[in-house]
Amino acid sequence: MNTLVLYYSRTGNNRLVAQRIAERLACDIDEIRPALGSFFFLLLGSAMKAGLGNRKLARDPGDYDRVILCGPIWMGTVVLPLRSFLLKYRKRIKSLAFVTACGSDETSKSGGFGYETVFGKFRDILGPAFAKGYALPVTLAAPAGAVSTKIVLDETNFTGEIASRYEAVVEELGRA
Ligand SMILES: Cc1cc2nc3c(=O)[nH]c(=O)nc-3n(C[C@H](O)[C@H](O)[C@H](O)COP(=O)(O)O)c2cc1C
Repeated sequence: MNTLVLYYSRTGNNRLVAQRIAERLACDIDEIRPALGSFFFLLLGSAMKAGLGNRKLARDPGDYDRVILCGPIWMGTVVLPLRSFLLKYRKRIKSLAFVTACGSDETSKSGGFGYETVFGKFRDILGPAFAKGYALPVTLAAPAGAVSTKIVLDETNFTGEIASRYEAVVEELGRA
């Protein structure tokens, strides 16, 4: 399957995940870069469902059979750079899987800030083109009690449970 990996990442976690997936599946990768860099405006825009755009992508997602999109969750929203991307390309995306290195976990996934709730928002935007959401809770890579919004994934802590979760995700994506 002709796959494009796209990512938006503010603090690097989803970049690390996206790069690993693209390397493993040997597919193209591109970065979603918001037109506006200010985190304050991106956060506000995410909450208000604003429509600020992104910079032009180097590759056209409509040319691919599948997009694997990686990015964070903020305050239970489809973050603005991802929302802008989805709204721009939703008619041309054939199939999209969303992989998020996020703060929520199994216990909080269905709450207001949880990843399952956010996957539902992706489905609302994309309809049947939304294939599946996968979560890699960053708390799996940190000592118990660490503040989830401050955890930074790197080569040293991307081990153990989070690495096995990643393996399961990439294997499933590789089979599709
Ligand atoms: C302001 C803020 C709000 C967040 N809200 C959520 C949330 O509602 N649900 C969640 O699962 N994670 C939440 N997180 C955690 C991020 O999704 C997590 O830190 C992610 O790995 C950051 O990805 P990045 O390094 O690729 O930017 C939040 C993080 C920040 C900074």
